[in-house]
Amino acid sequence: MAEIIDGKLVASNIRSKIKEDITAFISKSGITPGLAVVIVGDDPASLVYVKNKKKACEQVGIKSYEIALPADVSESEIIDNLNRLNNDPSVHGILVQLPLPKHINEEKVINTIDPRKDVDAFNPVNVGGIFIGNYTFLPCTPAGVIDLIDYYGIEISGKKCVVLGRSNIVGKPMAHLLLERNGTVTVCHSRTQNLEDEIRSADILVVAIGRAEFVKGHMLKQGAVVIDVGINRTGDGRLLGDVEFSSASKVASYITPVPGGVGPMTITTLLKNTLRAAKLSHGEK
Ligand code: GUN
Repeated sequence: MAEIIDGKLVASNIRSKIKEDITAFISKSGITPGLAVVIVGDDPASLVYVKNKKKACEQVGIKSYEIALPADVSESEIIDNLNRLNNDPSVHGILVQLPLPKHINEEKVINTIDPRKDVDAFNPVNVGGIFIGNYTFLPCTPAGVIDLIDYYGIEISGKKCVVLGRSNIVGKPMAHLLLERNGTVTVCHSRTQNLEDEIRSADILVVAIGRAEFVKGHMLKQGAVVIDVGINRTGDGRLLGDVEFSSASKVASYITPVPGGVGPMTITTLLKNTLRAAKLSHGEK
């Protein structure tokens, strides 16, 4: 049976350290790190994420500001809000919860966020930094996955890493972070041929495709490390990952559960990035 990677435990340990760092930073600089969260419309999942982000900020001593805009808000009104936040010295980090309503150009909105406040690392300036390994902010979910792997002392260097999914938020930056840690990385997607062969070749498998229980135990290499980024809600309200836990946990050496695996780590990176942004505004590295 696989060892279960306990994301709640790891997140709680890292957040305690962040809280200490924030307390020290506030007493040294007099600056309280501030995070502005922009939410457009009332998508239920987004409302839950935003609530969790605000709560996590409070727990570590970050001041959070919520800018809730109606679903029919114009693009220019969102951009006006972002420009105001870009110029507000009490706001160090800015996050626009995605997805945005269809009439809004997401790329244009993201490009408006000052790269020095872009704690999601979505702005092309920060994405480019990740590509060349010289970055200010790490992407939240992929960096959280690396923290989990490190916490359990799992070696990445030289390992065959397979990432399922190529989204800008998870798959692509995940591949870069694994590559930077000297993994041999393959990115698979909906057009990949012989997908099961690719999955079976993985020493470390990261799955972010948004399909409930797609990966089954029989597809895995014996002893693979399985990281499940999926969050799929079933009709009866349960949460399922992209990996079938019952069968995969019999073959894997380590596996993340859903919930309680990768989920708590995403916000943990966000908190780290917000402190980083506050330190940068104060002239610290
Ligand atoms: N929507 C889904 N994941 C994310 C994320 O990491 N950040 C933001 N801003 N929106 C999201």
